[in-house]
Amino acid sequence: MKNILIIGSTGQIGSELAMKLRSIYGGSNVVAGYIPGAEPKGELAESGPAEVVDITNAQQIADVVKKYNVDTIYNLAALLSAVAENKPMLAWHIGINGLLNTLEVARENKCAVFTPSSIGSFGPNAPKDGTPQDTIQQPRTMYGVTKVSGELLSNYYALKFGVDTRSVRFPGLISYVTPPGGGTTDYAVDIYYSAVKGEKFVCPIKAGTFMDMMYMPDALRAAIEIMEADPTKLQHRNSFNIASMSFDPEIIYESIQKYIPDFEMVYEVDALRQGIADSWPNRLDDTCARMEWGWKPEYDLDSMTRDMIEKLSKRFKG
Ligand code: SER
Repeated sequence: MKNILIIGSTGQIGSELAMKLRSIYGGSNVVAGYIPGAEPKGELAESGPAEVVDITNAQQIADVVKKYNVDTIYNLAALLSAVAENKPMLAWHIGINGLLNTLEVARENKCAVFTPSSIGSFGPNAPKDGTPQDTIQQPRTMYGVTKVSGELLSNYYALKFGVDTRSVRFPGLISYVTPPGGGTTDYAVDIYYSAVKGEKFVCPIKAGTFMDMMYMPDALRAAIEIMEADPTKLQHRNSFNIASMSFDPEIIYESIQKYIPDFEMVYEVDALRQGIADSWPNRLDDTCARMEWGWKPEYDLDSMTRDMIEKLSKRFKG
């Protein structure tokens, strides 16, 4: 039986991962860690314990780990790429000092740790198409710098201290539940909200800019399956390329137009986000994840579009 702490449980990934983990391991075995001002609400608040856990405060992490006898930590605290460019010191503090706190607590209390990496861990000199699992990682963003450093630090703790660290490099994640805040791939979420609300979408990313994307149910499954994987089969740890779809704004627009034919999109390119997107891969090669722990996505662009439109329509049209 697992006793899990989620750090960052009210964010874009945490809010859904917490509910999914509770459905598998039981509500009382999954502690929702949050920072003041981002308290859990609704189902998340009612379905299990919640505690204040600021990742920059090692003592708070240690206290909660001891109180609930935690054996697995999902570390989802981070600033997304565009915000991190505006607040680089804070991005480093959360992404690296926070991770170091988490790894130290994990070492002392024998916990496994999941810390997501990202397509943003690659820079412009990595192969763009079919980006290999093991290749040059020289990102030009603070977000990417914290992700590569986090991968290295997590691997170091595994090799040196035997801490069971594992992770995946997430693509842009698309969901109808909790919106992302300040990422480069956010447009691929916002576009569905505009379409369903009957609004014209102003796209901040240029036509022809390809990035890896994934529907949230596949991402949640990846986070759980990697932590459940047979460790003797893992040749890599931090962090596995995973992929399911890659598209540019034109392709996602056309996929939505099949269901909402009068949907309109115009471009107003955001220089910061475009610069970041241009430095990232077009499409990762996820062969190692498939071979080492059986990774396989379930959603493609069309099935994701159908589900997003159905779920958001229910919410906005009653
Ligand atoms: N979704 C993230 C971002 O755009 C990428 O991992 O910042």
